[in-house]
Amino acid sequence: MSRVALVTGGTRGIGAAVAKALQAAGYKVAANYGGNDEAAAKFKSETGIAVFKWDVSSFDACAEGVKKVQTELGPVEVLINNAGITRDAMLHRMKPEQWSAVINTNLGSLFNMCRQVIEGMRERKFGRIVNISSINGQKGQMGQTNYSASKAGEIGFTKALAQEGARAGITVNAICPGYINTEMVQAVPKDVLEKNILPQIPIGRLGEPEEIARCVVFLASDDAGLITGSTISANGGQYFA
Ligand code: CAA
Repeated sequence: MSRVALVTGGTRGIGAAVAKALQAAGYKVAANYGGNDEAAAKFKSETGIAVFKWDVSSFDACAEGVKKVQTELGPVEVLINNAGITRDAMLHRMKPEQWSAVINTNLGSLFNMCRQVIEGMRERKFGRIVNISSINGQKGQMGQTNYSASKAGEIGFTKALAQEGARAGITVNAICPGYINTEMVQAVPKDVLEKNILPQIPIGRLGEPEEIARCVVFLASDDAGLITGSTISANGGQYFA
């Protein structure tokens, strides 16, 4: 029987590519999304993947949302924590709301989501959790004290939970994408992207969402049971960690 995979932020950007790749690999996929109904409806009609709307920064919303997914599709055996936002600003201009929105959505969601599925995974002695972190959690990025902190926090969370889950057949890994061709990166001011970012990428181009999706599919597979607590960099050589 095919496994159930849940992808947060799964209807756009990297998450949509991940959801589609998991579907192609034979998983029953649920794609969570936070707000963009139009994009979610389009994604659903194009792919046939079930979509579920809730806010991953809310513990209670995650509890309710995961329960719904499990009732409709079955126990979640693969969880991809992909949902993330940016609220870029230099620290001297950053508002408390910009800090907390990013920390609660990007990092808080790992607790909110993993907590819903971890007991079931432990009971069944199998689980795959992949957290989509970022190159900017590894190297830091000006304008992103909030985002870099959240993404670095995801790496620590990954390493800790990997230790807790190992004996129960649960692997937990982080992928750190570099600059990927998505709406999030397209929102970076064009001159900054061209002048400051692209020249730092040795392969000379942005990554594509499908390139991250292929890493996820491998980490989710039974074949990847030896890999846990890892941080996989997929950034075109921009930063070696
Ligand atoms: N790298 C190097 N230099 C940068 C830079 C960057 N990423 N971003 C800005 N700068 C430079 C600017 O070119 C500018 O330099 P000059 O004064 O020499 O022209 C200086 O910093 C100040 O920049 P701004 O005038 O734009 O100042 P601001 O206060 O209006 O905005 C900012 C600052 C918020 C950092 C804005 O420039 C910005 O949004 N930069 C992009 C930050 C970024 O890289 N975000 C990543 C988003 S994608 C993502 O997060 C996905 C992922 O995981 C990789």
